[in-house]
Amino acid sequence: MKLLVTGGAGFIGSNFVHHALEHSSHEITVLDKLTYAGNLASLDGLPADRFRFVKGDITDSELVDSLFADHDAVVHYAAESHNDNSLDDPRPFLETNIIGTYTLLEAARRHGTRFHHISTDEVYGDLALDDPSRFTEDTPYNPSSPYSSTKAGSDLLVRAWVRSFGVQATISNCSNNYGPYQHVEKFIPRQITNVLGGVRPKLYGTGENVRDWIHADDHSAAVLTILERGVLGETYLIGADGEKSNKDVVELILTELGRAADDYDLVTDRPGHDLRYAIDSTRLRNELGWAPRFADFEAGLRSTIAWYKGNQSWWAPQKADTEARYQAQGQ
Ligand code: NAD
Ligand code: DAU
Repeated sequence: MKLLVTGGAGFIGSNFVHHALEHSSHEITVLDKLTYAGNLASLDGLPADRFRFVKGDITDSELVDSLFADHDAVVHYAAESHNDNSLDDPRPFLETNIIGTYTLLEAARRHGTRFHHISTDEVYGDLALDDPSRFTEDTPYNPSSPYSSTKAGSDLLVRAWVRSFGVQATISNCSNNYGPYQHVEKFIPRQITNVLGGVRPKLYGTGENVRDWIHADDHSAAVLTILERGVLGETYLIGADGEKSNKDVVELILTELGRAADDYDLVTDRPGHDLRYAIDSTRLRNELGWAPRFADFEAGLRSTIAWYKGNQSWWAPQKADTEARYQAQGQ
């Protein structure tokens, strides 16, 4: 297939492009606006005969239309993705996540293009720390932040375009990703690069909030599986049973880098901070036969730490600006 990947210069999109070029014979075009979160260096070294890059905005319907005319399927990663930024200025989240997704869906409708929409477990809200349940495909939507509400809105647009216009779409909602090429504003790379720079990691609130971690390469394998074998109109949850408190993750990073496990600061909490996410991915495993390769979170985290150690030139240019933004927010 000729695949159009939106947001392919971002963290998960670039991991998908690397994964799909290695594990399939698809040709890939990336459409990316190169916001502060996009980085062309994440796409270095890809085979020129199967990969091309187009700089542009998913809200540009003329450009989108011309690209859909020339591709068999679209995998839609492009988004404003960071909760903290959405609390500071929600508008770009509405523009890209809602209007951008709408623009792509209209093109999919016009061209009959297969469409896979990438979404998040945050659309389901949060769980109590002691709740034994996990999110499933039937959990009601209950988003908390401007970011997650725009992702929930985009999911609902996809569902409506499937039902009303017969668009051939699938949706996946994945838990927190970690791995190479993740922007230093996000929790794990922020703390790794802080420790590498001699700065104490920063935990929001009490550090007890829980996230369900999955390696980005496992997310990519799941998306490729759904794209090739998923049932049209369906939603699949993606997760690797990786629940960990933020405090546990920071302690692992500190220990791996040879520092005392309690060498961190507690800082101002995120307003509306979701307590816990947890994914039940039984459906994806049973119906499509997907399973994570990085089942051992600590081993995956070690290889991610090694990647940040070895790729300082990739992240160093973003670090000072990112920390200045956090400092202004007291975080
Ligand atoms: P990211 O912020 O690292 O990358 C987003 C990419 O989209 C960037 O390259 C950016 O330049 C591009 N982009 C933004 N606005 C655009 C626009 N208007 N037109 C074209 N390109 C634009 O994000 P990420 O963490 O890689 O997340 C990718 C997708 O996966 C998002 O849809 C996000 O909601 C979803 N998701 C993320 C996670 C996670 O843990 N990071 C988990 C589940 C789902
Ligand atoms: O669950 C999937 C979601 O995971 C995706 O939809 C989002 O795009 C992605 O950004 C991520 O959202 P989170 O808000 O969970 O990720 P973040 O990396 O911002 O924070 C992870 C946890 O760590 C969260 O509980 C907040 C906390 N945190 C974050 C930062 C940046 C800290 O304690 N300290 C920090 O410095």
